[in-house]
Amino acid sequence: MPKSVPAGFTIDHPATTPLDPPPSHLQLRAAQRFAPVAIHDGRLHPYLVTRYEDARAVLGSDAFSTDPSPRPGMPDFPSWREGQPQGPRGFFKSYDEPVHSHMRKALTREFMVKRINAMRPGIERLTAELLDEMTGQGTSADLVEQFALPLPSLVICDLLGVPYEDHDFFQQRAKVFVDLSASPERVVQAQQELGEYLDKLVARKRAEPGDDVVTRLAEQVDSGAISARDAADLAAFVLFAGHETTANMIALSAVALLHNPDQLPALLAGPQEAANAVEELLRYLTIVHGGVRRYAVKKVEIAGITLQPGDGVIVPLGLANRDPGVFGDPDRLDLARSNARRHVAFSYGIHQCLGQPLARAELQIVLPEIFRRLPKLRITVPLEEIDFKQNTFVYGINTLPIAW
Ligand code: HEM
Repeated sequence: MPKSVPAGFTIDHPATTPLDPPPSHLQLRAAQRFAPVAIHDGRLHPYLVTRYEDARAVLGSDAFSTDPSPRPGMPDFPSWREGQPQGPRGFFKSYDEPVHSHMRKALTREFMVKRINAMRPGIERLTAELLDEMTGQGTSADLVEQFALPLPSLVICDLLGVPYEDHDFFQQRAKVFVDLSASPERVVQAQQELGEYLDKLVARKRAEPGDDVVTRLAEQVDSGAISARDAADLAAFVLFAGHETTANMIALSAVALLHNPDQLPALLAGPQEAANAVEELLRYLTIVHGGVRRYAVKKVEIAGITLQPGDGVIVPLGLANRDPGVFGDPDRLDLARSNARRHVAFSYGIHQCLGQPLARAELQIVLPEIFRRLPKLRITVPLEEIDFKQNTFVYGINTLPIAW
């Protein structure tokens, strides 16, 4: 148990500095390399990892588990999740080895760079259509509702073979999953409903196959590689991850770029420059901002501190991505930064984001296109009045009023 326990740990971003890591994290970094924090009303005292190298050491080590169910002490959030079975469906549970590799393997081929590259023309077409639609309706819009959310939603529905007409149904449930203030009952109900929806879809694809991920998961059910329940849970996770991530990155990137207009030429200079710009935006914004959570399952030494089995660890990816020892002038958005790709916005180690090639492709296509099509793009409210998401697992923006 750590000796000193600083208070004030929060994941909220103040209105004045909404694009920077929460101040409580920055204070902890200034104080300590491995900072003990109090969470869950002071019942748990995990360590908060404040440096990039230590973050990678934790995330890359097999001494840590992500599975919250067997042991209270996992610094999971919100607090009601601590030590609880994960509701009626398993897709919220992070798996440890060997189950993790087995589950991940069922999806790996779907997100290979070659396969994602083949989707690029379709993503370009969709981007153009949505921008046409948005600009055809006048000279102002909500970027989130009219572009940032529908684009990844349409892409992920097409990839999975899920009818886009149902998008309201699963967007509402995805929202509940990331809302840290949602009651356990609401979360469990949303899990149940989404799980049942995907159970039915898997059954349908077994009878009427298509050229999509759910069909290929259904084939793996038929070959005995995974259970029907696993197939539905994996599809649910991808559906959720595909919505709440890229959409938030698009909206936050628009804000970051409009507040750093000197950076726009680098975004528009060509595909390679745009790709680097996307890496820098991922680093700078780090939307999975609440810290990924782990606990030690064996005795391990990190940064000179010996952790015992059961010790919890929080790794705020945003702090690692702003580590001045790795990224010079880390609080500056520099789209030409030479080592931007070293960021850990997609995490690190065996759990690092499986969907990253898709997220990259979407952002590389969408961000330059928005600014090419709308050179006079502006946000119509001051930064402090933008409706940033608070108390959510993934950072983002609820609505973004724009004009062009
Ligand atoms: C900018 C967009 C995205 C960001 C920043 C992001 C970030 C992350 C992070 C940080 C993790 C690891 C959490 C941990 O270490 O505990 C993760 C895992 C994962 N992400 Fe993403 N993600 C993004 C988009 C997507 C998309 C579009 C998909 C799928 C369509 C996706 C699917 C997954 C999956 C399946 C995992 C679990 C991997 C595992 O445990 O092996 N993500 N993501």
